[in-house]
Amino acid sequence: MDIKITTLSENTADTPDLIAEWGLSILMDIDGYRILFDTGASFSAIYNAQMLGIDLSTIDKMVLSHGHFDHAGGLLNVLQRINKPIEIIAHPDIWDAKYALRADHRYIGIAFNREQLEALGATFYLTKDPVWIKDNIVTTGEIPMINDYEQIDPDLYIKQNNEFKHDPLADDLAMAIKTEQGLVIILGCSHRGMINTINHLQQITGETRVYCVIGGTHLMAASPERLAKTTADLRQIAVQRLGVSHCTGFQASSWLAQEFPDIFFLNNTGTQLNLP
Ligand SMILES: [Fe+2]
Ligand SMILES: [Fe+2]
Repeated sequence: MDIKITTLSENTADTPDLIAEWGLSILMDIDGYRILFDTGASFSAIYNAQMLGIDLSTIDKMVLSHGHFDHAGGLLNVLQRINKPIEIIAHPDIWDAKYALRADHRYIGIAFNREQLEALGATFYLTKDPVWIKDNIVTTGEIPMINDYEQIDPDLYIKQNNEFKHDPLADDLAMAIKTEQGLVIILGCSHRGMINTINHLQQITGETRVYCVIGGTHLMAASPERLAKTTADLRQIAVQRLGVSHCTGFQASSWLAQEFPDIFFLNNTGTQLNLP
């Protein structure tokens, strides 16, 4: 099995040629089958793909981790660039009117309407269930919130019938690739909890070994207690490579780097992994 994972867009970049912006976009090549997971916030994914010599028109499928602008904002640019029909797997709630509470409620949902994206070739496969894209590649579908310490960011809202309600982020999804070494897990924002997500993927796939976890963990405002519990669970799961991105935040990233010095890396713009 030959897996190549390239992070096209993330908050930071270590390469002078590439641009960084708040958000995430990850390209997977699994034995020649190409999946684009998220699109970044604007044009960084298509810009960086070009700089890295990657032809985005070769992708076979897209997956959207959730309906926040920093993962879906590049949709229009990507669809224009690939210029062909493409299926996008996501949860139906990506179309909710999503807001973040800052000084006031700020819109952070998808800035395009569905028809506009469909006119550019997108077909949305919206489901709450896991989708097996290949017999070794699966999306989580809706992630059950099982443990007692991972909570959803209280500053995230949806607007329904002119009222703001807490966003349950039911649309938050992730992916796994089953390999001989165990699961390779790709996270979007982990709004429903990184450990809940990993546990759910172990359950769906029947594979308990987790070889590699990369992506956003949404630990940026996590308490020391939550970080300690996350660390203990990651140890118990025995993750072998841990590449955090995006909404992990500086503090949690340095915490995890100290706790897992042998397996930790920053998975940022331009990171290329050849797995296993
Ligand atoms: Fe998000
Ligand atoms: Fe995000």
